[in-house]
Amino acid sequence: MDFFSARELVTQTGYAVDMWPLVIINELVDNAIDACEEADVPPTITVLADAAGITIADNGPGLPESTIEGILDFNVRTSSREMYVALDRGAQGNAGKCLVAMPYVIDPEHGRLVIVAKGIEHAIVCKVDAITQQPLVDHRTRHVTDEGGTTVRMEWAPSKDADGKAIWPFGADCFPETKGSMLRPSIRDLAMVLFTGYATFNPHLSLSVRWFGERLKFAATNLTWEKWKPNKPTSPHWYELRHLERLAGCYIALDRQRDEDRTVAAFLAEFDGLTGSAKRKLVTDETGLDRTKLSELADQSGFKRDVMARLLASMQKHSRPIKPPRLGTIGKDHFCTRFEQLGCEADKLQYAKRANIDNGLPYVVESAFAWYGEQGEGRRRVLLAGANWSPRIANPFRSFGSSGEGLDTILSEQRATADKPIVFAIHAAHPRIEYTDRGKTALVLNSEEEGADDES
Ligand SMILES: Nc1ncnc2c1ncn2[C@@H]1O[C@H](COP(=O)(O)OP(=O)(O)OP(=O)(O)O)[C@@H](O)[C@H]1O
Ligand SMILES: [Mg+2]
Repeated sequence: MDFFSARELVTQTGYAVDMWPLVIINELVDNAIDACEEADVPPTITVLADAAGITIADNGPGLPESTIEGILDFNVRTSSREMYVALDRGAQGNAGKCLVAMPYVIDPEHGRLVIVAKGIEHAIVCKVDAITQQPLVDHRTRHVTDEGGTTVRMEWAPSKDADGKAIWPFGADCFPETKGSMLRPSIRDLAMVLFTGYATFNPHLSLSVRWFGERLKFAATNLTWEKWKPNKPTSPHWYELRHLERLAGCYIALDRQRDEDRTVAAFLAEFDGLTGSAKRKLVTDETGLDRTKLSELADQSGFKRDVMARLLASMQKHSRPIKPPRLGTIGKDHFCTRFEQLGCEADKLQYAKRANIDNGLPYVVESAFAWYGEQGEGRRRVLLAGANWSPRIANPFRSFGSSGEGLDTILSEQRATADKPIVFAIHAAHPRIEYTDRGKTALVLNSEEEGADDES
């Protein structure tokens, strides 16, 4: 029941009900791009917002039925990525559950989630049992023509206000004609910023949006753009002992279910730099784990700490660390294209990049800044901020530096406040992005790098 009331979902998502259209977009587009990258296809994503719902469609491999079953089981979190330390947009297995419960919370009578993937339409309706207070999930499937990819539609009953204008159940300004004020952007304005953020942080993305009558389109600028995709092996250098134990634990549990028991050598093959058998042999010889089964690394009381520590040290010794540029760089040219689309003069764009190692982990931070120029009168600041190629709804760089002042303070010190006609984008790629909350609204940022060389 952690998902089945407005209060619970506000806690899970980190946003008030008014903002949920943005939460729906953020989570579904993240999932869609991750899935496309996993299948090595440049993402083509379409978004449709109409009176009765929001639809997001991708050209990925299609959400498997077994994963949908997992998402509908409110006792476990379901993610194909959660156990890895990697540069994924989503990795908690939480968003899907929020999205399944959300239609019930916003429209208990008519709300539903409809997923079409792999030739099957899944119509999912949730209710709550009045006596036991347990969620009841009605999941109906039927065969449909397979067009590939995944389409997810969140639906509610369309309704109209006294003037006959369509309204959404979120109690917010969502429509093109209700553009927000200088100080208070509407949900529609914020949605446009979010779409722009996706297009800005993902040079390989083709994004097409129909927001009631309004259209927004971004063509990919680089279909063969290189970045560290979710389908790449993860690096042993990104793991601490606790991460390695978590991953090994997941594999042992999975093997038990399948009546299998993989060897340590097979486990090693998943890691960057250890996919070759010669390298793996160096590790198993050095640690004496040749022929050892993964499950033998643990006993009733848990993992054998010293063995796991030796294993991790050896894995790191025999694989090369990933150099920061391999994570992926968005690049100045791409920022220029997007900033021009926003109406900025590209020759005024200032771009800075910093690629380095912090605490043994590679990272790339890029920022771009431009002014709207003379025509900027009456425009409000556009702030695009995100991590691992996912723009966040609000600035997630809330607190960093020695006094924890955060991005907002720094921008106001530069007189780049919300009422200024400027565009500022900031993006960080890092293999161990951590958020303070399940809604992924604020990044955990340390300040250990204080005093490091900084040319930008
Ligand atoms: N459009 C899609 N195409 C293919 N697979 C998908 C798609 N959307 C979701 N999935 C699968 O469903 C899983 C669950 O999605 P969900 O958003 O709940 O979790 P997540 O993205 O792993 O983590 P987070 O909670 O941080 O978003 C994903 O890990 C992925 O395997
Ligand atoms: Mg997700």
